Amino acid sequence: MKWLLAPLLLSTSLIQANPTQGEIIYKQLCFTCHGPNLEGGIGPSLTDAYWHHGSSPEAIFEVINHGVEGSEMIGYKDVFPETDRLSLRDFLLSKQEGVREMVRSIYPPEFFKEKRLTPELFKTVESTSQTLLPENWIYMARNAVGVIRVTAKVYIRQAGSYHFSIRRLGRTAVYFQDKEVHYSDDKAPKDQDINKPISLEPGIYSFEILHEEKKSHSYRFHGSLNGPTGTRFPLSGRSLQGNIPKIIVAGTEAKIVRKWIKDLPPRALLCLLPNKVIVAYNTVDGSILNAWHSAEINQTPSLPDRSQKPSEIKGAEIPESTRPILKSPNSKFVAYEAKGAAALIRSIVDGKPMTITIAPKGDAAFSISTK
Ligand code: HEC
Repeated sequence: MKWLLAPLLLSTSLIQANPTQGEIIYKQLCFTCHGPNLEGGIGPSLTDAYWHHGSSPEAIFEVINHGVEGSEMIGYKDVFPETDRLSLRDFLLSKQEGVREMVRSIYPPEFFKEKRLTPELFKTVESTSQTLLPENWIYMARNAVGVIRVTAKVYIRQAGSYHFSIRRLGRTAVYFQDKEVHYSDDKAPKDQDINKPISLEPGIYSFEILHEEKKSHSYRFHGSLNGPTGTRFPLSGRSLQGNIPKIIVAGTEAKIVRKWIKDLPPRALLCLLPNKVIVAYNTVDGSILNAWHSAEINQTPSLPDRSQKPSEIKGAEIPESTRPILKSPNSKFVAYEAKGAAALIRSIVDGKPMTITIAPKGDAAFSISTK
């Protein structure tokens, strides 16, 4: 019943008006690498569905304590007392939403012939392999043969009605909090597996999927858990461990990110404007480092390397972009914010607040104003 501990943590931190010690430390220290909203930068995102070192409370605590050897992530065991480190872990957990801690086990198919797929049945047979999926959704090695059992947790932040939507070929059972919520045998039409609604409060829940493929040469299982106002948590996908890059571009609004880019200082802010212009701003000396048009950021894709390899900016350099903006040596960077199409950078210059606005201009340029 371990999961029962976690919903309490999650819901208390959701309603807490005052920041916890973990949140305070995060905002003073961790954000420099993991981003102010945990969206990632030099270090990976701490809210997405990819957890190289595991997304369980234990795994997260382990990384906070001991760091990751050979990376910028140091261990904080000797830096903060245990209560602070636990509070950091709980702060990270309170920001999670969607599927986590997915474990996939594969079983010999012969055993399951003519038997109804239930968790009890799986307890009576040994799995041939068990893998904690770093991507938090099901993906299959090609040519995998067998019956699979996937166990996972789902972090719900929005109360409302949820349902599993599953397309598959073969037999599939879904158990939510140990109760069967879906069963289809191999005669069920593959596109009609929309399940009955489950009403959920914010918290952490467990579920499992039992699946036997109709043809054994490849798995054809697609699923998601869908919730209110368009919430959709994928249950299946392709492994990012291959070579699918994550492209970052601005939408109709500007986006500001920090990424490790070769030849740029790690503290550079990358302002992505809706006209596909990217402006690199140096927060240390208040200058424009460079700018590109028709540009996008190609984030390092593969998980094992994602912090060892820099991301890339693809685009054409805008000539003569490099220039100082805050000319005073007595300036201090404070914060940044995307506002509509523009990126705002706030600093204190000679004791007075100053805001730099970087806005799109035409198709391939940008404008800068200070106030
Ligand atoms: C100097 C930059 C830096 C700072 C500061 C930093 N991290 Fe990290 N962190 C990283 C990098 C880089 C990785 C990826 C390590 C790897 O897998 O190679 C990482 C990984 C992690 C992971 C594992 C993520 C995963 O995908 O499994 C967690 C959790 C984490 N950091 C939490 C924290 C917390 C909490 C703090 C603040 C106490 C912090 N980090 C401060 C750079 C940093």
